[in-house]
Amino acid sequence: MPDLADLFRTGPNTPGGHYMRTLWHPIIIASELKPGWAKPIQILGEKFTLYRGEGGAPYLTAFRCAHRGLQLSVGWIEGDTIRCRFHGWRYDGSGQCVEVPTEDAATAKTVRLRTYPVREYLGLIFTYLGDGDAPEFPRFADFESGGELWVEAYTRACNFVINMENDPVHIPFAHRESELFANKAPEVPVKVDAEETDWGIDIRSTFANGWVHTNQRGWPNMTCFKSPRQQHRSHLTWRVPIDDDSHWSFQVDIMYDTAGPEKMQEYRRRHEARGGKLGRSYIELGEAILRGELRIQDIDGDDKANMIWIQDYVTQVGQGPISERKSEHLIRADIGLLLYRKLWEREVMAYAEGRPLKKWHRSAAVIDSEDE
Ligand SMILES: [Fe+2]
Repeated sequence: MPDLADLFRTGPNTPGGHYMRTLWHPIIIASELKPGWAKPIQILGEKFTLYRGEGGAPYLTAFRCAHRGLQLSVGWIEGDTIRCRFHGWRYDGSGQCVEVPTEDAATAKTVRLRTYPVREYLGLIFTYLGDGDAPEFPRFADFESGGELWVEAYTRACNFVINMENDPVHIPFAHRESELFANKAPEVPVKVDAEETDWGIDIRSTFANGWVHTNQRGWPNMTCFKSPRQQHRSHLTWRVPIDDDSHWSFQVDIMYDTAGPEKMQEYRRRHEARGGKLGRSYIELGEAILRGELRIQDIDGDDKANMIWIQDYVTQVGQGPISERKSEHLIRADIGLLLYRKLWEREVMAYAEGRPLKKWHRSAAVIDSEDE
């Protein structure tokens, strides 16, 4: 049995990597890939070329040209094909080489790149990197209509599991100086429970006044929270490994006008400020804090726009690489992460040993359980 930290490695030849390749994952915000553009992409420790044909269809193909290995993203998009900048080899959307300029057509026919299925959904582009036919594409009906959708992404220089293990007790401490506590005092939950559900894990925090907040883990790398009575919005995220020491978080927020015009404006301002549009980037500030050159409590002005991302960056990246995680002193309130680690080991090892996997799904019971 591999060490638990090793089980959270997701490169091509690891048990965790094999398991993660059985699933669809988001890889980019759809609007960030314009027609006629190609981008280098890295997820699960592997590099790829993502491009959008001039007609708008996205394609994911091998990172390098088969000929001399130049990365294809620096070439040209012609219709739905991509041409290498080095010697002009051209590939269609299925990865088939359709032109080798110095040779006859028969030569091109012998060359093919691996390609991967892609799909646009909720403002994101998803792919399936596994072998064989892709599994059914997971949909989230409650995010498809009835509200205003915001799509955002950030990168964080730590293993994805550190983000998955982020728990409700961190909020009153890690986020003390944020907008969350502009009008109320930070409050520590009096009780934390966690249970396995049809979709993953429900983590419930109970506060002194009896209010219960449910934070969901969607198996294996998603989170969701929904508190319509409190905030009139729902939030869905995917934590996607870039490599073993960095990950993407792709997230969609749906806001309902039941929040009232004032709250809607506040949410919009918060979203518009994010992602470096206001102030310095959360990575630049987070790294300066980790180097001891800046204190979170002194961040001011436009730099405060990304306060929550800065605080989470510091508390997650500050835990260091998982390979260096030597000792922990876990307590009852860590029940959520203990359950997450247990289920991860169970599922990854089941896949590695050819045993059947749980069919995770966001059932009506899971969706209803968010509304407490
Ligand atoms: Fe946080």
